[in-house]
Amino acid sequence: MPESTKTATLTIGDKTLELPMYTPTAGPDVIDISKLYGQGGVFTHDPGFTSTSSCESTITFIDGEKGELLHRGYPIDQLAEKSHYLEVCYLLLYGELPSAAQLEDFESRITRHTMVHEQIHKFFSGFRRDAHPMAVMVGVVGAMSAFYHDSTDISDPWQREVATIRLIAKMPTIAAMAYKYTVGQPFVYPRNDLDYASNFLSMCFAVPCEEYKVDPILSRAMDRIFTLHADHEQNASTSTVRLASSSGANPFASIAAGIACLWGPAHGGANQACLEMLRTIGSVDRIPEFIARAKDKNDPFRLMGFGHRVYKNFDPRAKVMKQSADEVLDLLGVENNPTLQVAKELERQALEDPYFAEKKLFPNVDFYSGIILEAMGFPTSMFTPIFALSRTVGWVSQWKEMISEPGLKIGRPRQLYTGHAMRDYTEIETR
Ligand code: SDX
Repeated sequence: MPESTKTATLTIGDKTLELPMYTPTAGPDVIDISKLYGQGGVFTHDPGFTSTSSCESTITFIDGEKGELLHRGYPIDQLAEKSHYLEVCYLLLYGELPSAAQLEDFESRITRHTMVHEQIHKFFSGFRRDAHPMAVMVGVVGAMSAFYHDSTDISDPWQREVATIRLIAKMPTIAAMAYKYTVGQPFVYPRNDLDYASNFLSMCFAVPCEEYKVDPILSRAMDRIFTLHADHEQNASTSTVRLASSSGANPFASIAAGIACLWGPAHGGANQACLEMLRTIGSVDRIPEFIARAKDKNDPFRLMGFGHRVYKNFDPRAKVMKQSADEVLDLLGVENNPTLQVAKELERQALEDPYFAEKKLFPNVDFYSGIILEAMGFPTSMFTPIFALSRTVGWVSQWKEMISEPGLKIGRPRQLYTGHAMRDYTEIETR
């Protein structure tokens, strides 16, 4: 924790409290209210945590006003252009960009943990073929607790490291198996001769009947999508992982909780919802109708892929994703993709509309990702599993940071209670 060099004065009735303040490397100062209840007898109240810092972290920083995203200080647009996913994983996990030898060792450890226990294959047959792949991932990742007992003791740094490697290595395998199961095709084993992104594409799209050749365009686009989704400070699913593991729950159970939270359409489920929205709009002449609906307070419809709790400027990931969408669809010869045309015109009209400008609503990471994934051959139901696969390193990095802190406390918020005061039970005859 940085040294406290100033305080905030809070007057509550006849009490005046001096609360320590901390100045971060970047971002707003924070007021430490941990002793507020003990000294002042009051709680703070902040549903949705719009003004609340839940932890100290050194991993990722977002400047919502400027539209900047830094991983260990490196801007996301530089990492997306110059780095690759497993190198970004190393950076997030260990704090620095790796040397060539460190990277080779890390990639080798990941490669050798990509297979799942053979018994896990049997799990899938318990699901209906039309199960959503996110339902499968929540179940199978949680069940990893039942297989990898030698990496569930979070007090053991070695077991934490093994769990870290296993989760990052096996998530693509599990996501690909979830996809294969829903399309009725046999599972494809990981290949140690392929890089991380190529291996995922092979496990999703290879079939036993012919040799699968990885398209380098798709592999590069896939790796960039993984990188853009890797971590994002204390978003809902990361906060879920931190809260779950604060009780001492094992890493597989905690990550499964994060997957469950990510599934929601307000969070990681927005990429699927966004593409389905673009398909529903169907053509550029229907865009005004949907923009009007998004602005109508009486209509629950929102523009999926637009808006963000933190970004009040362009999401830097959306900028890179938009550029990648143009490149990938052009290279795949689908540059006239109607969904992409609707997305671009919708973005243009929304950004010119005072409603969106006043509320500082811009495209977020989910607005263009689905267009690329669809062009790559993925069904919309696989969009959020790919987000979960990518975010696993962020969840694990934040989990490692929290678990390694001395004096870890279980997360246990309080509340503003407005229910009944104490009252006596009444017998049913008198009701
Ligand atoms: C992700 O937190 C993260 O970092 C998440 C993420 C990550 O990498 O982990 O970045 C990934 O989850 C991106 C967000 C994906 N979700 C969507 O695209 C769904 C659509 N967006 C909205 O549901 C919304 O913008 C949220 C949930 C993303 C943010 O909601 P907030 O911060 O709680 O903001 P809000 O709902 O209070 O909205 C503020 C105002 C409201 O109007 P008023 O009540 O002030 O009149 O803006 C309006 C909202 O009605 N608004 C929208 C809108 N988003 C907000 N109006 C129309 N369309 C939208 N998309």
